[in-house]
Amino acid sequence: MAEATILSDSPSVASAGPESGPESGSGSQRLLELRHLTMRFGGVHALNKVDLHIDRGEILGLIGPNGAGKTTVFNVITGVYDPSGGDVLFEGRSIVKRKRYQRTKLGIARTFQNVRLFSEMSALENVMVGVDAQHHSSVGGAILRLGRQRREEREAHERGMELLEFMGIARRAHQTARNLPYGDQRRLEIARAMATRPKLLLLDEPAAGFNPAEKADLMSLIGRIRDDGYTVLLIEHDMSLVMGISDRVAVLDFGEKIADGSPASVQADQRVIEAYLGVPSDDEDLLASTGPGAPGDAEHAEHAEHAEPVGRAEPAGEG
Ligand SMILES: Nc1ncnc2c1ncn2[C@@H]1O[C@H](COP(=O)(O)OP(=O)(O)OP(=O)(O)O)[C@@H](O)[C@H]1O
Ligand SMILES: [Mg+2]
Repeated sequence: MAEATILSDSPSVASAGPESGPESGSGSQRLLELRHLTMRFGGVHALNKVDLHIDRGEILGLIGPNGAGKTTVFNVITGVYDPSGGDVLFEGRSIVKRKRYQRTKLGIARTFQNVRLFSEMSALENVMVGVDAQHHSSVGGAILRLGRQRREEREAHERGMELLEFMGIARRAHQTARNLPYGDQRRLEIARAMATRPKLLLLDEPAAGFNPAEKADLMSLIGRIRDDGYTVLLIEHDMSLVMGISDRVAVLDFGEKIADGSPASVQADQRVIEAYLGVPSDDEDLLASTGPGAPGDAEHAEHAEHAEPVGRAEPAGEG
């Protein structure tokens, strides 16, 4: 369908998302691998020798109490921080020396724990910025560039509208981002991250601040994103939600991975129960039925997530 999308031959998000889906056969199933990943901030071991992998087409749930190191995993994968030790492999190759925008180009995109949008731009423009991050009209002759820019602009517009549609916020396309209801801002962030057709989509508590019904909706949407061939690493505090949607769940506690396996096995893991609930108890039911008791999802301290929104993309004409 989409003849000449800049990023790939894949048509729309609804039918095929990233450049290489689970069946694309481009190399092994292993998409991302963290090897003995360590991140220290002064004396704090935010991550301590964490081994973790994601296979293509999976939703991997990443959970753990506040301060466990979840967001730090994202920050190291996306290049906000250089790890103090260990390695990050993407499609079998180390990426720790790659710049952030290069990682975007390789196919890694994220959303942030606290919404980050270009607040004065429209919803559609925000997504188009994401598409633009993949364009290459910065070099070349002026005339060539002009033609290509027009085409890219048109394609970015189409792709942007598709994504807004997919996220259920097409009617917001021309509204200024900062005027959108909070929930739609979060959905918009996901749409923007998907604009680059990432092979790996990192979602940091995308449902923070949502009510239970909204959360459930968003989770089923994330399920559809996966069904389209995306690979998703999902940080989410609500246990029952993350258990329901994830193919596999990994648990961090004080920077260490303490469990990794099927939702059922993780849920039954005594170490997880103790760490996550902070109670050395036999109240296993709690784990199945409630969130972790994380106070105020939306207000989690956010540490130096300095990344500008989409890779290196700068909003044209914005100060
Ligand atoms: N830039 C930084 N400077 C200093 N310490 C940091 C920095 N980033 C993270 N940390 C520390 O690393 C640890 C892990 O933080 P991180 O934000 O990764 O946790 P988290 O699991 O995402 O928590 P939450 O559920 O609250 O979002 C915490 O002790 C935190 O204070
Ligand atoms: Mg976090």
